Amino acid sequence: METVVIVGSGLVGKSWAMLWASAGHQVRLYDVVPEALASAPGQIKEILTLLEAKGQLRPSKLNVQEQLELISVHPDLKEALRGATYIQENTPEALEMKRNTFQLLDALLKEVGNTTAIIGSSTSTIQGSLFTNGLSVEERSIVVHPVNPPYFVNLVELIPTPGTKPEVGIRLRGLMESLGMKPVILNKELPGFALNRIQYAILNECWRLVNDGVLSVADVDTVMKEGLAPRYVFMGPLETAQLNAHGFVDYCQRYGQGINSVSQTMQEIPLMSGESCAEIDRQLQTILPDGQLPQRRAWRDENLARLASFKRELGL
Ligand SMILES: NC(=O)c1ccc[n+]([C@@H]2O[C@H](COP(=O)([O-])OP(=O)(O)OC[C@H]3O[C@@H](n4cnc5c(N)ncnc54)[C@H](O)[C@@H]3O)[C@@H](O)[C@H]2O)c1
Repeated sequence: METVVIVGSGLVGKSWAMLWASAGHQVRLYDVVPEALASAPGQIKEILTLLEAKGQLRPSKLNVQEQLELISVHPDLKEALRGATYIQENTPEALEMKRNTFQLLDALLKEVGNTTAIIGSSTSTIQGSLFTNGLSVEERSIVVHPVNPPYFVNLVELIPTPGTKPEVGIRLRGLMESLGMKPVILNKELPGFALNRIQYAILNECWRLVNDGVLSVADVDTVMKEGLAPRYVFMGPLETAQLNAHGFVDYCQRYGQGINSVSQTMQEIPLMSGESCAEIDRQLQTILPDGQLPQRRAWRDENLARLASFKRELGL
């Protein structure tokens, strides 16, 4: 059993806590904001109770009460790190914040004599070496980037820095698999890792299509939801291509030139601001006013839970 310290108990931190507890591990929550820390267990209890009522808990040998008993709050980070085997950092996405947090973890781990705990960072876009370089924990630090919320979405990107010991990535891969996650290890650090590089390519083109007056916001989302997404739930774009011809080589022969010609017409990378940003927001507000975001997030999570259980049924 692992003793996991969650640093930062916001959206992602709470979801990580639920995930680790569902697999029977001890979870210690820490947050620099006392109110955030104090309210976290109640919020987790509320979410798990609701999921239980709907039959949408992640598969676990433990009932909700047993899972909740594994989660404790720790206002003193140093004490929380004593005996910890894994630490997941979830502070806000800013390089200085990550650097300060890793420096603090480095110092506190030294003070409590913890020389083995692995430290994962949830950062979505910042290369880990930028905040672990030169620290004594560098060789046991690694980016462990989840998709929000990790309790419901299985992909996790593991991105070792040049200073991370290879066995750390291997151990993390095993741990993540034991949680039922689907880890991928990147062979080198690059901005945005893999998921966000792909996501940003999609967002850029969606922006251009609206900006050029080709499609409305609603229609862009329909293209994705009703066109690309149904297949992508089950297979990636490369397998999709393979199936769309007599294999991938045939696909390249048939469509490679066309794909290249179309791609040449894609204009420069947009800066997402200004009048186009306001226009997309205006259209979005008529579909989903920002005031309804909390309910819509609950709806999203419920559907993700259903989808996860359907994929389990299919053995995917
Ligand atoms: N939200 C997402 O969709 C998503 C997805 C994947 C990864 N991430 C990454 O996860 C990290 C956290 O994101 P989030 O959405 O949970 O943010 P959040 O704002 O919901 O939570 C951040 C938490 O960190 C706490 N905090 C601030 N400074 C701290 C410090 N010095 N020490 C300890 N706790 C501190 C805050 O009080 C807050 O509770 C970011 O790096 C983000 O990029 C987010």
